[in-house]
Parts: sequence; C-alpha cells; structure tokens
Amino acid sequence: MKRILVVGSLNMDHVAKVDHIVREGETILATDFSKSPGGKGANQAYAIGKLGGQIAMLGAVGTDDDGNALIRSLNSVGVDTDGMMRCADAPTGTAWISVDRNGSNSITVIPGANMKVDTSYIDEHINAIESADIVIMQLEIPLETVVYTARLAKSMGKYVILDPAPAIPDLPEELYGYVDLLKPNETELSILAGVSADDTDYLKKVNILRQRGAADMLVSLGGDGVLMSLAGREDRMISSIRVEAVDTTAAGDSFVAGLAVKLAEDRDVFEAIDYAQKVAAIAVTQKGAQPSIPSPEEVK
Ligand code: RIB
Repeated sequence: MKRILVVGSLNMDHVAKVDHIVREGETILATDFSKSPGGKGANQAYAIGKLGGQIAMLGAVGTDDDGNALIRSLNSVGVDTDGMMRCADAPTGTAWISVDRNGSNSITVIPGANMKVDTSYIDEHINAIESADIVIMQLEIPLETVVYTARLAKSMGKYVILDPAPAIPDLPEELYGYVDLLKPNETELSILAGVSADDTDYLKKVNILRQRGAADMLVSLGGDGVLMSLAGREDRMISSIRVEAVDTTAAGDSFVAGLAVKLAEDRDVFEAIDYAQKVAAIAVTQKGAQPSIPSPEEVK
C-alpha cells in the first residue's frame, strides 16, 4: 500500500446548531453546541487513518489543551504525528461553525498556529515527503508553503493532490503545474475560475483552470454528484448517493480521504470515486467533522 502524507491545518471546531445561517446584522440563538477535532488537513489525515491508510501528517498546533486533543485524535486512528510542530507563541487554530436545519454550514477559521507552517519547517521535515508516495494539501496554511511543498513533492515524483479549500481567486498559476489531482467543490471551482457561482457551466470553469495548467480534476457538486475531468478520458458526471444530510461539515475532507485510500491501494479511479462518495455520504449523516468519519466496515 502506498504511503500518504497530509501537509495542512488542524482546528478545534466550535459548532453551533442553528435554524438558519445568521444574516448580516442579525442575532440568533443556537439550539445546540459542541466542540470537536477538525481542520481540513487533520480531517483528511484522520479519515485516511480510520479507513486503514498509511498516513503521516505535518502541521502545527499550539501547546494548549486543544492542540493536545487534536494530536490525540489523530493518534487514535494511527496517524503518524511525529513531525507535528507545537508552537509556544501561537494558539491552536479554531473554527467557528454554524450548521443549519438542512445540514448546511458556514465556517470561520481563526488560523493561529496553522500560519506557522512555513517553508523552513517543510525543509526540516523533508524526509516525511521523501517517505510518502501521495502528498495531500489544502489551503488553510500559508499559500507560499503550499506552493513550495507541492513543487518539492512533484520534483521528487510524488503524486500531489490539492483540495483548494478555502478557495482564493488568483491561485498562482505555477501551483497548477505541480498538482496531479485538483479536487474543488462547485463554489471553489467558481472562485478559482473567476466565474459567477450562478453559472452552472462547470465544464467551462474546468477548461479555464486547464488553460492555467491544471491536470486531472474531480469537482464535487454536492447532490449533483462528481464531475470527472481526467487527462486522456472523456469528461463525465458521476451521480451522487442520496442521503438525508445532518451536517455537511467535512464532506469534502472525507471524499478526499476515501479517494486517497483507494488510490494508495492502486485501485481504478472509478472505484476510488465510488468509495469516496460512500465515505462522504455517511459522514454527512453524522454530526461534526472527525466524529462523523465512518469506519471501513460502515462503508462496505
Ligand atoms: O472542512 C471542514 C473543516 O473546515 C472544519 O473541520 C473546520 O475546522 C474547517 O477547517
């Protein structure tokens, strides 16, 4: 089985259950509150570990209780956290999440220690990249570090996956050239391509990114499924698995994890997408980010 490395963020999630996402100038009362381990990088690493992948993570937390809890959570599913940075001068990242009655969410991240993941830290842990076959990143650590790590990993012949979340316009074009597989959702695709989210011509947006140098792309479209755009294959839509969503937090993270686990087993891309969709479909029926990740037995 191929070895996977996640270089990314860890956040302690503070989740308020609300009727609707708060509007500008409005105050609302939550009906429930919970705190649980999250962060896009940590969620992906946790899910890969829980699903049985060989996984290590590089990232940063503070020396506080939240940092301890996040590392404990990763270790509980076998994630190698030996290279993790503990920062005395920055708190662990936090995320403030509202989940509405339909399971949709809005998230504000206060990055804290995640912003300490700089290029010199990557240089110090170059062995972790050397040891991996697949390197996965997101955009909750400094962009400069993402570009640097992707360039390094690509030059070492690693398979690089980028989940461009949270998306930013004007992602440096050179980054597309270092990424083997880009996995935006529909909102992120729109932001990256600079085209309105109201325009549902996803292929047009995919082609804009392709002109900037993007290679293979899997665009998750929520209930509409996945748009698969891979080099040498015809673009196609893969339909979604219909479930009653309770909390969509970490849907994208669990999709990336399921995909990576199957690619690490050298499975066919269709099998990998099918598995990733099942993992994500189960995750959205449960509350929280890491607490919602299913076991391999549940995914069968
Ligand atoms: O993708 C979900 C995650 O986004 C949450 O766990 C939160 O921490 C933010 O990073």
